[in-house]
Amino acid sequence: QPVDAFDLVIFGGTGDLAVRKLLPALYHRYVDGQIPDVSRIVGIAREATDDEGYRATIRKALQNNGGQPGKIDDFLRLVHYRSLDARKDDGWDAFAALIGEQPDHVRVFYLSTSPELFVDICKRLGGYGLNKGKARVVLEKPIGRDLASANQINDAVGQVFDESQTFRIDHYLGKETVQNLLALRFGNVLFEPLWNASHIDHVQITVAETLGVGQRAGYYDHAGALRDMVQNHMLQLLCMVAMEPPSSLAPDAVRDEKLKVLRSLQPIDESNAAQLTVRGQYRAGAAEGQAVPGYLDELKDHKSNTETFTALKVEIANWRWAGVPFYLRTGKRLPERVSEIVVVFKQVPHSIFAASAGQLAQNRLVLRLQPGENIKLWVTIKDPGPGGLRLRHVSLDMSFAEAFGVQQPDAYERLLLDVVRGNPTLFMRRDEVEAAWQWADPILGAWANSGEAPRPYGAGTWGPTAAVALIERDGRTWNEDS
Ligand code: BG6
Repeated sequence: QPVDAFDLVIFGGTGDLAVRKLLPALYHRYVDGQIPDVSRIVGIAREATDDEGYRATIRKALQNNGGQPGKIDDFLRLVHYRSLDARKDDGWDAFAALIGEQPDHVRVFYLSTSPELFVDICKRLGGYGLNKGKARVVLEKPIGRDLASANQINDAVGQVFDESQTFRIDHYLGKETVQNLLALRFGNVLFEPLWNASHIDHVQITVAETLGVGQRAGYYDHAGALRDMVQNHMLQLLCMVAMEPPSSLAPDAVRDEKLKVLRSLQPIDESNAAQLTVRGQYRAGAAEGQAVPGYLDELKDHKSNTETFTALKVEIANWRWAGVPFYLRTGKRLPERVSEIVVVFKQVPHSIFAASAGQLAQNRLVLRLQPGENIKLWVTIKDPGPGGLRLRHVSLDMSFAEAFGVQQPDAYERLLLDVVRGNPTLFMRRDEVEAAWQWADPILGAWANSGEAPRPYGAGTWGPTAAVALIERDGRTWNEDS
């Protein structure tokens, strides 16, 4: 179904996210006939270029992304560019006039800039009355760098756009498998009765990347893995696993349940951070067969205490999850790009099998978010054949590409259209962001106060050995089956 005609303005229009993700996502939705031709996409940045210059940049990105020449040309007719500085008046009158030309369009202002600019941009949009009518604002993560700065931003944005107009994006919520978790948990009778501390031993969430920080060092060095990945993406994944069944998919029904999980996270602070968390920073090594420099070599001053890897043992203090650890790990320059959620069930209470039958293994449900979305359920069976009753552990597999043969849409494709439709179910409400910072701040504080440098790990390894020890101390291991 096509969405209503819209004007989508991307602040940070020449940035990496806009060029590599947002415009290609819009292109794919356009080609699928979901975007009306009268819609406009306006890139905004400080750079002095014009519509044609910007289209040339976007054309290149789309060509690299598998776009088809004729379709690219059609799509680029929707694309415009305006050079603006959030902190200077020049050009704003003309920009406001441009947007004012189409008063009936849904208006989306996507703030893909550093969060320090969110407030200035919103004030100007409000000053021109562009926040009225069917207007929405999209805030990219991270929102601030701690609870106090997030509150400042949310307060200031809130003066211009009310909560129902504010879409705090976390693109992990738009990933196919994350939504599949909803279908799996609440569309089947099989899992939910087992989905608790009586039957689940622990949960692992891994988001591993092979990329280093490279061009993004300026941003990343002020953030680090906890702010960049854990406070948002990984906690959101944890919430989807751990939340109580919402009464419907109504936006607030889902977000209320996620909020309860965030508020039930056991605090990690100076008293226990050393036992429950590990920080790492990559050194030179290899990625995908190539020698790569260490993190410090990528920085101008070659000095930093920022973590590029973190592993944490997190607990949720409620009836459903008491005593079930959630082990989270994420890092740059790890050996492979893989994001997965692994739910490990408890051992059977009593074995009826002879020792010679082999070991019983715990059931595991593995949700692979990327690459190659799939769901695997590991079960114990009898090893086929006449050799007596021997046990074997096999997986019931569902690969999305094999089963459905289509490439899954990028998360941004779904989320951008959800903004146009005004559906905030897959976006973070203000109180969720606050609760997530409330939990993250004491960890960041404990790390800062400890004065300890992150542990080094070689690029192309699974992080510092302490991350392995974190889980092995508890008699468990990180999932290794792919
Ligand atoms: C972003 C982070 O939000 O997510 C990046 O800022 C990270 O550091 C990226 O690389 C990962 O997203 P994806 O979809 O490639 O897993």
